[in-house]
Amino acid sequence: MSQKKFFLVLLVVSSISLLLHHGGHFSWTIKAFLGCPSLRPHPSSGLKPKHTSIAFLKTHKTASTTVQNILFRFAERHNVTVALPVQACDHQFCYPRPFSARFVHPHTVPARIVTSHMRFNGSELRRVLPADALYVTILREPAAMFESLFSYYNQYCLSFKRVPNGSLETFLDAPWRYYRPEEKDSMFAHNTLTFDLGGEKDHTPTDEAYVRGLVRDVERDFSLVMIAEHFDESLVLLRHLLSWDLEDILYVKLNMRGPGSRRSLAAGLPARIRAWNLLDAQLYDHFNASLWRRLAELGAACVGREVRLLRQARDRLVRGCFGGRLPQLRLAAQISNKELRPWQPSAGVDIVGYDLPPNATRPGAVPQEVCLKLIMPEVQYSRRLLRIQSLRYRRNYPMRPPPPLRPALARHRLPVGSFRNFLGHTLTQRPAGSQNRAGRLARFSRRQLS
Ligand SMILES: *[C@@H]1O[C@H](CO)[C@@H](O)[C@H](O)[C@H]1NC(C)=O
Ligand SMILES: *[C@@H]1O[C@H](CO)[C@@H](O)[C@H](O)[C@H]1NC(C)=O
Ligand SMILES: *[C@@H]1O[C@H](CO)[C@@H](O)[C@H](O)[C@H]1NC(C)=O
Ligand SMILES: *[C@@H]1O[C@H](CO)[C@@H](O)[C@H](O)[C@H]1NC(C)=O
Ligand SMILES: *[C@@H]1O[C@H](CO)[C@@H](O)[C@H](O)[C@H]1NC(C)=O
Repeated sequence: MSQKKFFLVLLVVSSISLLLHHGGHFSWTIKAFLGCPSLRPHPSSGLKPKHTSIAFLKTHKTASTTVQNILFRFAERHNVTVALPVQACDHQFCYPRPFSARFVHPHTVPARIVTSHMRFNGSELRRVLPADALYVTILREPAAMFESLFSYYNQYCLSFKRVPNGSLETFLDAPWRYYRPEEKDSMFAHNTLTFDLGGEKDHTPTDEAYVRGLVRDVERDFSLVMIAEHFDESLVLLRHLLSWDLEDILYVKLNMRGPGSRRSLAAGLPARIRAWNLLDAQLYDHFNASLWRRLAELGAACVGREVRLLRQARDRLVRGCFGGRLPQLRLAAQISNKELRPWQPSAGVDIVGYDLPPNATRPGAVPQEVCLKLIMPEVQYSRRLLRIQSLRYRRNYPMRPPPPLRPALARHRLPVGSFRNFLGHTLTQRPAGSQNRAGRLARFSRRQLS
């Protein structure tokens, strides 16, 4: 090779590696295009603009808080208004009542994104959002989901609370002995996904016409049904649907239980849980199959590459926030910044979160503000957005007297370490766990995050 050629090759190689290794938008775009035919921009049209109008139906115990955090951060970065609940509804749209446009805070309209908990009512939601809004939701495998619901709502949902010794097996032996369909919070004990989607949780599950109708309605209303067990693959489909960048879907898992509050299901239990939640099980099987059909259409190589890029970028971001390391999961009482303490449903369940190290000054450090939002729990982030959007509303409409809005802070000023929960109760947080619990958490956190 002549010297000239050699330098030319060297120049090309180093330019490419510079592009590929310097993080940022450019590098992943190029990498993602390699072998992803549907992603290659049309030469004349360039990249499609990002889609900014999204309704995310936030289902319960399905990793939906993590998706909500992705949407909250996207909305803030792109100045997109998020419809938030009026204060009387607390941080969800008066769940479990069916969604109504009246539940939306007047300072948060016209909105382009909706992502707080609700029971779905498509025609009401369409009154709030632009016509081009895309509807997305997430489902989780019913056995794992029910185990999670049973532990999370063991004190709220009376159907669970009256079970002797809080035993899931005992409940499943004779569900109708403990379950009361008309009781408050009964939706957490029977076909919760069906209920959240607006369906009838107690409908005869073997009524094939009903199940077909339910599936058809969900397919008509929702452009994408994500699956919690295949979270990163679901995010890849979400990114394609919305023409977003990879940076827009980076996340840290939120609202998780600590190791002491989880249990693995004995053999035979998953089948019994599915039988009890048969409507949900049929929905799940249908939409897991459609997810994998869509992933196959995109191509396994393309999806695999994008999932790898997503995990690499997420790892970089997280290390940039936590001083070069992966974060430790912490019990709420161990988190010094109260803006970062997750809400605790009841004694006996630990919802773990994260704390940020003091301002990192090392090179590659991510700005504290960015990190804070990445790990901010739902309640605090909802309040933050309402504050920001109310300010914007008053700036844009200075002549309009603000509607009588009780100041959020006064209403929520509670003793340190206590939270107002979604259902309107005030809970006091339990003191920090024993050394033993903390040690278990550290091991668990390494498993979860590595
Ligand atoms: C969002 O709004 C702020 C303040 O009005 C402005 O400085 C910023 O450029 C806007 N960002 C986008 C992405 O529109
Ligand atoms: C959903 O909203 C429509 C009006 O937009 C209403 O007629 C209907 O009764 C609502 N459904 C439920 C279950 O509340
Ligand atoms: C509840 O637990 C206690 C002690 O572990 C046991 O003696 C009792 O039989 C259990 N009750 C039921 C209904 O399983
Ligand atoms: C979802 O479907 C895929 C493809 O059929 C299958 O491999 C996977 O195990 C299913 N996931 C769950 C959690 O059942
Ligand atoms: C971190 O930096 C922010 C702004 O740059 C500042 O407001 C905050 O007090 C700093 N925190 C610490 C612990 O130094």
